[in-house]
Amino acid sequence: MLECRDLSVFYGFHQALDGVSINIKSGEIVAILGANGAGKTTLLRAIAGLIDFDDDDDYGEHYEKYQNEILFNGESIFDWDPHEVVELGLSLVPEGRSLFGELTVIENLKLGAYPLRAQKTLSQNLEKVLSIFPKLADRRNQTTRFMSGGEQQMVAVGRALMSEPDILMLDEPSLGLSPILCTELFNAISEIREANTGILLVEQNAKRSLEIADRCYLIETGRIATEDTVEGLKGNQTILRSYLGGEVRFANRYSERLTTKTILSEEISELTSKANKKQKDHVDSLRTSFNRPDLQDREKTDG
Ligand SMILES: Nc1ncnc2c1ncn2[C@@H]1O[C@H](COP(=O)(O)OP(=O)(O)OP(=O)(O)O)[C@@H](O)[C@H]1O
Ligand SMILES: [Mg+2]
Repeated sequence: MLECRDLSVFYGFHQALDGVSINIKSGEIVAILGANGAGKTTLLRAIAGLIDFDDDDDYGEHYEKYQNEILFNGESIFDWDPHEVVELGLSLVPEGRSLFGELTVIENLKLGAYPLRAQKTLSQNLEKVLSIFPKLADRRNQTTRFMSGGEQQMVAVGRALMSEPDILMLDEPSLGLSPILCTELFNAISEIREANTGILLVEQNAKRSLEIADRCYLIETGRIATEDTVEGLKGNQTILRSYLGGEVRFANRYSERLTTKTILSEEISELTSKANKKQKDHVDSLRTSFNRPDLQDREKTDG
């Protein structure tokens, strides 16, 4: 179990996090949603040990009124070094992936197995990663620089999994991905959870993340504005409107205009098939009218 208590982060005089408290258990998917600049990346970086609190002597007094505690299975990991945090079982897939572009898929994945906790189980973990992302097995010797954004994202997630994390943190994993690769990625995230890994998911794609998440935190200018289960959130029209937009059209132009609430509460596959059926009916009716004998006769006469 990972817990942040009353966490604050300052960049110089600029305060990016103001008393943030969150928690996540193994096997849970917890989504962190919020607008640009809300502090989502800062939160993940603070947990991962990428914010150097010690270095902030000039601004030390800013922190005094906060507890600033990060606990992992009861142990304080606040201001630990990143490699120590990974060794304990917390892995971050950073925004923008940071792969080694000149290295192959397999080489990048093996680099993820550097922590002592995962060295002995490297080959089992590699097998697991390649079964979650079969595409990577097909392209194991490809230089990652030449792969698509979605494939590179899979390598980045795979590399983090190679450290055998108890909690996996993902910063905007779907950014710039095609809808198909996005679906593959979100399916993979659900599969990773099945192995009892906790997943802290920062996403712009609120709809997709709420489809797979158990709970959600909404973060607004450095503060947690709302915390709820996804089920609870579906009933909250104000939140849905402000964070997830109003009505949207789903699947194709033959679908009805649906509210976010409907989209969240209905099976996506059903909505898609309904819309596709409408589209097919429309096309069929057009075809029927084209094939009307009177129209065909007219064409013949015209020709
Ligand atoms: N290294 C930095 N130095 C100074 N300010 C920073 C730094 N990194 C982030 N900030 C500021 O801290 C605030 C939170 O930034 P953060 O990157 O955590 O937001 P975010 O929610 O991840 O946004 P986005 O959705 O754009 O990724 C923003 O106001 C940002 O400008
Ligand atoms: Mg960010």
